[in-house]
Amino acid sequence: MQQHGGGDASQRIARISAHLNPNKSQVRGFLGPQQLENALTGMDLVIIPAGVPRKPGMTRDDLFNINAGIVKTLCEGIAKCCPKAIVNVISNPVNSTVPIAAEVFKKAGTYDPRRLLGVTMLDVVRANTFVAEILGHDPREVDVPVVGGHAGVTILPLLSQIKPPCSFTSEEIAHLTSRIQNGGTEVVEAKAGAGSATLSMAYAAVKFADACLRGLRGDADVIRCAFVPSVVTELPFFASKVRLGRNGVEEIYPLGPVNEFERAGLEKAKKELAASIEKGISFANK
Ligand code: LMR
Repeated sequence: MQQHGGGDASQRIARISAHLNPNKSQVRGFLGPQQLENALTGMDLVIIPAGVPRKPGMTRDDLFNINAGIVKTLCEGIAKCCPKAIVNVISNPVNSTVPIAAEVFKKAGTYDPRRLLGVTMLDVVRANTFVAEILGHDPREVDVPVVGGHAGVTILPLLSQIKPPCSFTSEEIAHLTSRIQNGGTEVVEAKAGAGSATLSMAYAAVKFADACLRGLRGDADVIRCAFVPSVVTELPFFASKVRLGRNGVEEIYPLGPVNEFERAGLEKAKKELAASIEKGISFANK
């Protein structure tokens, strides 16, 4: 019989996770580039959270030099081993890593824009929580669309479109917008060098992956915000509400009516997003 601490690292990962009670699924662990092919072959959904986290004072873009290469390698593996998988990119900077993934898939001839999604669910989770706090509502009953991207001013909560409808003072709007945009940084600072959000990120990742799986299963009306290849603005990628289905993103919704404050935010977001997207594309093609 094997000791609890024994076995190679991948066996240990599997053993740790095997305490979960997922319905009819099996947990297996894989480690290192040599096991990438085994990890990816036959997958319908691949979630990429890999990479280094921020430390206080860093922006997500400061992670580019390390994380860009990691995402590129993983996407090359996906193109080879499971080219039809839905891909959820969590690794930061998402505004650049999603364009990197797109370029890798294009080069491999496997690109299907419907199957590539940057995960911005944590922005929605935070927005729902902070808005519910102010309104005294249950956060599960609040729906705040968050569009744009996943970094600083590119995170654009559309507070004028909250469901159920509500209204805020301009001070509340400024406070909420800034808190939602800086939610990740708030955690990075609180952890004081020990990384960035883990629990809330895992929660958001599971919520989003579950939505993708529901779409794959054929459930109706699975609508979430995500950073996707898009024609909603003049930028090639943008986060907005999308409908998830059997092929991934089945429909991308327009932004809807935005007020003056949000329009100004949108212009700022697009400027930063354009640079981050371009940075990802040129990295993948160099
Ligand atoms: C987050 O939003 O918490 C993540 O993107 C991690 C980070 O660096 O902020």
